[in-house]
Amino acid sequence: MSKRFWLVIGLAALVVMLAVAGCGQQQAANQKVIKIGLIAPLTGDVKTFGESTKNAVELALEQAGYKAGDYTIQLIEQDDANDPTQATNVATKLITQDGVKAIIGSVTSKTTIPISEVAQANKVVEITSTATNPKVTVDNGQRKDYVFRACFIDPFQGKVAAKFALDQLHAKTASVIYDKGNDYTVGLAQYFMDTFKAGGGQILTEDTYTVNDTDFSAILAKVAKAKPDILYLPDYYQKVSLIGQQARDAGIKAIFMGGDGWDSSDLNYAVMAGGYFTNHYSPEDTRPEVQKWVQDYKAKYGSTPDALATLAYDATNLLLNAIKTANSDDPTAIRDALAATKDFPAVSGKITFDQDGNPIKPAVILKVTYDPQTKQGGTQFVASVAP
Ligand code: PHE
Repeated sequence: MSKRFWLVIGLAALVVMLAVAGCGQQQAANQKVIKIGLIAPLTGDVKTFGESTKNAVELALEQAGYKAGDYTIQLIEQDDANDPTQATNVATKLITQDGVKAIIGSVTSKTTIPISEVAQANKVVEITSTATNPKVTVDNGQRKDYVFRACFIDPFQGKVAAKFALDQLHAKTASVIYDKGNDYTVGLAQYFMDTFKAGGGQILTEDTYTVNDTDFSAILAKVAKAKPDILYLPDYYQKVSLIGQQARDAGIKAIFMGGDGWDSSDLNYAVMAGGYFTNHYSPEDTRPEVQKWVQDYKAKYGSTPDALATLAYDATNLLLNAIKTANSDDPTAIRDALAATKDFPAVSGKITFDQDGNPIKPAVILKVTYDPQTKQGGTQFVASVAP
C-alpha cells in the first residue's frame, strides 16, 4: 500500500474523530439540566416518613428516566431531621448554593411551613407531599403562590374524623391531647373539636404537652376520671404509641382516634389496635392506578407503600408534569403550569388545585388491627369520605 493511501486513511480517521468529539461537545451543551431539591426527615422522630418519601421520589424519577420534557433532572437530597431550623437551613442552601428551581418537601407541617417562607421569598417552586396544615400555602390570608401540596388539608381531615366518631361510632364524648408546639397537632385538634361540638358531641377534657414530654400520667389521670368515648390523639406515630400505652395502663377504655400522623410501620399496633385514623389512601383500593403503584413499590422495596410514599410519588409526578408542560426551568413558568393542572391522574385521586394550591380529594378512614397470635399489625380500610 502506498504512503498516500495511509495518509488518506489517517486523515479520514482524524476527520471522523473530530466530528465525533465535536458532536459530543455540542450534545453536552444542548443537554438541559434542571436541579430539584428533596427535603425530608431522614433521621429523627419521624424517620419512617422520610424513608418512605425518599423511596417514592426516587422511584417516580426512575420511571420517568430522570427526564421531564427536554430537561434531565438532577435530584439533590437533604435531611431536615423534622427540625424547623434545620429545614430552613437546608432549604436556603438548596436554593442559594445548589441553584434548585423546585423543591419537593418536606413531609411534616412544622418543617414545611418555614421552608415555604424560604421558597416563596426566593420565587422557587415548592410542592409538599404530605404537610396538611393550611399555613403551608397561605400566611395570614396571603397566598404563597409558588407553594403547592399533593394532600388534602387538616380542616377537612379533622372534620372527617369528628363526623365518623359521631355518626359511625355513635360517640357522645371525647377527650383531646396534643402537642402545643406543633402546628399540625394544634390545628387538627381544633378542627376535630369544632366539628365534634357542632355535631352535638361534648369535649370532656383538652390537654397539651410539649415535644420532649414522655410522662403523660397527670393528663391521663384526668381523662380516666372523665371516661370519654373517644380519645383523640392527633400526633405522629411514636408519640401516640407512647400515650396510647400509658392510657391503657391508666385503665382508659376509650376508642383511640387520630390523623395521618399515625401512618407508620413503627406504630405500636398492639396498643393502638381498635383505633381509627384518617389517611390519604388505602393500598386495598382496587383502582388500577393504586394496584399498579402498590406492585411497583413492592417490587423495588419489598413492602407495601404507606400514604407518605404514595403522596411523594404523586407530588413528584405533578412536578415532572408541570416541568414538561412548561418545558422550561423557569420557576415562574413551572408554577403557572402547576396551578393550571387539571384532573391529574394521581394515585391518591384526581388532582386539580384550588386557588390556595390545595387539591380537593377524599380522605379514607383506616382501622388499626393486631393479631396477638402472629404478632402482626396492620390497617384495614373502613370508609372513603369525599369533601
Ligand atoms: N400531615 C402531617 C403533618 O402535616 C404529616 C403526615 C402526613 C404524616 C401523612 C403521616 C402521613 O405534619
